[in-house]
Amino acid sequence: MIHYALIGGTGVEHFELSEQRVIKVKTPYGTVEPMIGKLDKRELVFMSRHGRDHATPPHLVNYRANIWALRELGVRKVLATAAVGSLSPEIHLGELVLPDQFLDFTKSRPQTFYEGGQQGVLHVDMTEPYCSTARQLIIEASDHLGFAVKNGACYVCTEGPRFETPAEIRMFQRLGAELVGMTSVPEVVLARELGMCYATIGMVTNEAAGISAHPLTHAEVMESVEKLGVNVAKLIEETVEL
Ligand code: HPA
Repeated sequence: MIHYALIGGTGVEHFELSEQRVIKVKTPYGTVEPMIGKLDKRELVFMSRHGRDHATPPHLVNYRANIWALRELGVRKVLATAAVGSLSPEIHLGELVLPDQFLDFTKSRPQTFYEGGQQGVLHVDMTEPYCSTARQLIIEASDHLGFAVKNGACYVCTEGPRFETPAEIRMFQRLGAELVGMTSVPEVVLARELGMCYATIGMVTNEAAGISAHPLTHAEVMESVEKLGVNVAKLIEETVEL
C-alpha cells in the first residue's frame, strides 16, 4: 500500500522520483496514468493535475478520476500544490501558504462521487476541509528546513480558465478570501468524500487582478512558480519523511 500521493499543480508537472514508472488505473470516471516511484525509500504516487505537458485547463481536469485512482492505490495522505494569487496585504509574492478554508465559485464541475441511485447520497462534513494533521506535518518540515510557511488562509476557487476581474477580487476580499486559484475545488471535496487526509501548498505567484499594478499574465504565474518549485520539492520531501 502506498501512503502518500503528490498532486502537482501548475509548474510542478514533474517530480524527481527514483525507479519511477507510469501506471494505468481504471476508474468509473476514466483511466488515469499516474507515476509511481520512490522518494528516499518511500514509495509514493505522483500525479500531474494538468497533465505532464500542462494541456488540461482547470475546469476540464478529471478530478473524480484522479482522486478515485489515488484511493484505489491505497493512498491515505495527499499533498497537492497550487499556484495562487494573493488578495491579502499580509500574503506576498513568493510565499508558501496552506489554505484551511475555501469559498467555492466554480460553475461546471462534478463535485461528488455520490450522485444518488446505487452510489447513494452523502453530505460530507466540511468543517475542516484541509487536513490539519498534514498541514502540521508540512509546518514541521518547513521548520526543519528553515522555510517560512503560513498555516491557514481562505482560498477562493474560481472557474477559470480566465483570470478574475478586479470587481470580482474586491467582492472576494469582502467575503474573506485571501488566496485565489482555480483547482482546489472539487479536489479537496472529493478527497474528503473518500476519507483521505488532503492538504494544499499554495505557491503565491502574483497579486490578484486589480491589486497588482499591471495586468496579470499566465507567463508571470509560470515564472514565479518555477522559482518556487525547488523549495516546494524540498518541503514535500521533508514532509513525507516525518
Ligand atoms: N487567479 C486565479 N488563479 C490563479 C491566480 C490568480 O490570480 N494566480 C495563480 N493561479
